[in-house]
Amino acid sequence: MHGTAKPAIEVLFSSETIAQRIHEMAGAIMAAGLVRPLVVPILTGSFVFSADLLRALQAAGMEPEVDFLTLSSYRRGTKSSGSVTILRDMDLDVSDRDVLLIDDILDTGRTLAFAKDLIAARGARRLLTCVLLSKPVKRSVSIEPDFIAFECPPVFVVGYGMDLANRYRELPYVGRVMAG
Ligand code: IMP
Ligand code: MG
Repeated sequence: MHGTAKPAIEVLFSSETIAQRIHEMAGAIMAAGLVRPLVVPILTGSFVFSADLLRALQAAGMEPEVDFLTLSSYRRGTKSSGSVTILRDMDLDVSDRDVLLIDDILDTGRTLAFAKDLIAARGARRLLTCVLLSKPVKRSVSIEPDFIAFECPPVFVVGYGMDLANRYRELPYVGRVMAG
């Protein structure tokens, strides 16, 4: 069990707001015309967003294959460790495939850039990237996602799959943990 003090969470993006935006985003992704798409959520943080986006894409007519790539850059706490490692690799071959990479949040850019370089090096035919949130910070690496759901304030956020030391992933909204 955790301590008795329960930190307050300020809602930044409600579940209704997120659902509406994902619906729009699915339309934009469909318009890109991916052929035999392979959707690759970057775990763990994107699992809730990816599940909702996949179902929105299905409703819009997509019949993708799905495979997962588990990367780690944030170990604990709120600071990036600076290096990205593969915790669990994909099972499927991406060569000659149209791939849609999904991540939860673009911060320094290292995670998405790492995944993009990896999949490009393995010979993907087309590679599009999609993130739920983009923080307005100076990137460590230059990367511009093809699809961004929301610009996010430069604070540490949790919920909707995203964690602080493995907590808060279950929240249906994106919020900020208030100190105190
Ligand atoms: P980047 O490699 O610095 O762009 O960080 C991307 C990864 O760090 C994301 O996939 C998240 O898992 C994690 N991350 C960055 N900012 C936050 C945050 O505010 N809350 C939770 N996770 C974050
Ligand atoms: Mg992540």
